[in-house]
Amino acid sequence: MRFSSHYKMEGDDIIDYVFEHSNFFDANENLVYEEIGDGNINYVYRIFEKGTKKSLILKQADVQTRVRPDGYLNPDRSAREAGVLKLYNECAPDFSPKVIYADPVMAAIIMEDIGSYSNLRKELMAGKIFYGLEKLIAGFIVDTSLPSTDLGLGYQKKCQAAFKFYNPDLCKITQDLVFTHPYKGVRGRNIFLPENADWLKKKFYEDSKLIAKVAALKEKFNNYPQGLIHGDLHSGSIFVKIENEKTKIKIIDPEFAFYGPIAYDLGNVLAHFIFAEGYAKYSFIFDDENKKASFLLWIENAKKDLLKFFSIFAKEFLIKNIKDPMYKNEIFIDDYIEKIKIDAVSFCGTELNRRIIGSAKTPEITGIKQIENRILLERELAEAGCAMILNPEEILRGIKA
Ligand SMILES: Nc1ncnc2c1ncn2[C@@H]1O[C@H](COP(=O)(O)OP(=O)(O)OP(=O)(O)O)[C@@H](O)[C@H]1O
Ligand SMILES: [Mg+2]
Repeated sequence: MRFSSHYKMEGDDIIDYVFEHSNFFDANENLVYEEIGDGNINYVYRIFEKGTKKSLILKQADVQTRVRPDGYLNPDRSAREAGVLKLYNECAPDFSPKVIYADPVMAAIIMEDIGSYSNLRKELMAGKIFYGLEKLIAGFIVDTSLPSTDLGLGYQKKCQAAFKFYNPDLCKITQDLVFTHPYKGVRGRNIFLPENADWLKKKFYEDSKLIAKVAALKEKFNNYPQGLIHGDLHSGSIFVKIENEKTKIKIIDPEFAFYGPIAYDLGNVLAHFIFAEGYAKYSFIFDDENKKASFLLWIENAKKDLLKFFSIFAKEFLIKNIKDPMYKNEIFIDDYIEKIKIDAVSFCGTELNRRIIGSAKTPEITGIKQIENRILLERELAEAGCAMILNPEEILRGIKA
């Protein structure tokens, strides 16, 4: 029977599949599709009605990744992603595309089209300001992660959930790309700007104190099932729009989600604010200096306020929801939140570093066309990244000040 065992859908399959597995469209004659996925891993299509433009999204995972057809990646990642999105639909419905149908056999998800939102990375690289953005992201992290912790859910239920969202294959990608390759240069995987190669190699490969700290962060990433985290919360996973003068966001692509340290998500967001700041400083996107100054001031405040709002919302949530009498203790709660913020600074450092030296770069760095500026930006980010890993408490005090 059609669609009863996994294969990569093509052409009419895509339209027929979506028509058969949703009650959204009236007839399939007027349906067309386009591939809109620009990611590395999966296939994403928009299926829409020619006249009305009513649309849905189909995301399918294949046994290989979209850009590297030579390796195997278990398509069961799709079922996990669907499970996480459904959870977001419950605990943060305004922040996630609605799942219409999830199919573990075809490794496919039919979901709401959030086409009225734009990719946050692209918007920030165009110098756009989104007031309130950091508050929304802090709220999303608190609403989706804290309820899943020992403190929010209780230990036994948490263990069951951690088992359900066990994600060794995708975590291994993060372990390699974030916590190993940038410091060990495994099999020549790192990519350098020639002008910075020697400087970066010395900084990343030869500092055993730095490497020891990164080793501890890797160990924490692997062995601290604190709560359900998104696992890949960079600005390309955040979609944004302004409606009635208010910023709104949607979060997509939680296929790297697993039970890990909440600080990893928070640190990732912080790092990608810093990339946006770096791009604004060193590219020529602004035709006027005042606009540039306003953007830089906004992003500077957004970095601080991300952590501030995280603390406020986390404390509100924990005070209201903790049931375990041992955890109902304000000193413990403050300490729990502070530790997340310190680790977030460290994970921000590992994210900055891996995008400079690693194989998966970010357009805020590769998009700087004037070579002198890129040299400067890479060195500035590497200095910041290493300082964050080596002295997170001190850097956190600086961010708060
Ligand atoms: N629900 C949606 N509505 C509208 N567009 C979407 C939706 N989901 C994904 N997209 C589009 O498809 C692109 C790729 O989606 P996504 O990041 O989920 O794919 P991926 O293959 O897992 O990517 P990556 O390689 O980054 O992991 C997004 O950047 C976005 O432009
Ligand atoms: Mg993805």
